[in-house]
Amino acid sequence: MVEKKPVFPLSKTQVQELIKKYPTPWHIYDEGAIRENARRFIKAFSWVKGPGNSGFKNFFAVKALPNPFILKVLKDEGMGTDCSSLPELLLAEKVGITGENVMFTSNDTPTEEFVKAKQLGAIINLDDITHIDFLEKCAGIPEMLCFRYNPGSLKQGNVIIGKPEEAKYGLTNDQIIEAYKIAKKKGAKRFGLHTMVASNELNNDYFVETARILFELVVEINKQAGVKLEFVNMGGGIGIPYKPDQVPVDLNKVSQGIKKEYDRLIVVNKLDPLRIVMECGRMITGPFGWLVATVRHVTKKYKDYVGLDACMANLMRPAMYGAYHHITVLGKEKAPLTHKYDVTGSLCENNDKFAIDRMLPEMVPGDIIAIHETGAHGYAMGFQYNGKLRSAELLLRPGGAVVKIRRAETPDDYFGTLDFKELGKFK
Ligand SMILES: Cc1ncc(COP(=O)(O)O)c(C=O)c1O
Repeated sequence: MVEKKPVFPLSKTQVQELIKKYPTPWHIYDEGAIRENARRFIKAFSWVKGPGNSGFKNFFAVKALPNPFILKVLKDEGMGTDCSSLPELLLAEKVGITGENVMFTSNDTPTEEFVKAKQLGAIINLDDITHIDFLEKCAGIPEMLCFRYNPGSLKQGNVIIGKPEEAKYGLTNDQIIEAYKIAKKKGAKRFGLHTMVASNELNNDYFVETARILFELVVEINKQAGVKLEFVNMGGGIGIPYKPDQVPVDLNKVSQGIKKEYDRLIVVNKLDPLRIVMECGRMITGPFGWLVATVRHVTKKYKDYVGLDACMANLMRPAMYGAYHHITVLGKEKAPLTHKYDVTGSLCENNDKFAIDRMLPEMVPGDIIAIHETGAHGYAMGFQYNGKLRSAELLLRPGGAVVKIRRAETPDDYFGTLDFKELGKFK
């Protein structure tokens, strides 16, 4: 199941019509494609059978695309949410996602977050052995408890997430068994195991190896702590091909590889049914979002620049990670790539560039461009530095209608945390 890279789903004329109502820049997401993708993902793991009637579940990582309309679509497709802060828990609640449809994975967690997670009945995933006591004091020990495992040197890590040994997250090999023993003593009755050791990973085998490490640990936990786990959460981190020549993860291959390890380690040791869940964000919505922007200025200095009405406040990844995002110039899809440009925003930082030395068709002010794969960790990473404001988000519905699912910020939003009356009195 290797999917093709999605093409921008609207024509230039359709976008020009939309711009009359919604001035650029904006992100637009393709609901039909997101739904189809969600179904493909869940189907690939349809062999998973957990306790009761439970099967495979993805808890969508809210941080990837924290928009309630998107969460509602994903809820409709059977997904839960992975939340990591109080506002993310509140957002899930507003969408009606509660109870064990919420996984709460945080670190350095404040009291109020544990209290809210417990109140929602979320699955609480503890990041540290000391958090057992902390949770007990601030919210009480829930019936279901999960621990985040850091495999240390057992797992190499990848470029974005780094080496597990250097990571602040999770319980070490020495701590994890002890944690289950303590939690059991304190009254927890149902248990999960979690890890998150990948980010934007495209290697199929990486996920199978993670599953093997977790399943081996499930066996160890059972032997040493007398705990039969209900689920393993393999985390998120399934990558997407940002570059045209990259190959997407083959979900069927990954799933079959995991099944082999499951049969070998879980079934043989009579530890089934063990539910497998994940918390992917990027691979669910990432390929089906685009940042649409208009060219303001084309300038020539020591290099040639295309200046957009979007900036890194709307999409941080290129500036932050040097990440590649493909660019389509609408109406010039078939034009020869004759010009080398840096495609920039208007923020006063020289790394405010969506592309560097990118070969593109010749461009003029007024051209409209679509920056690809902005459906995850795109809008969400926005910020207001330099008085730049976050853009609107639109949704292309399966029938072809386009609806606004978040308005663009205005200067009033920028000033919303300031008290100008107090400023008047301030001498
Ligand atoms: C704990 C946790 N789970 C899930 C995710 C989602 O990762 P991705 O969007 O790459 O699948 C992240 C991303 O940072 C994370 O920190």
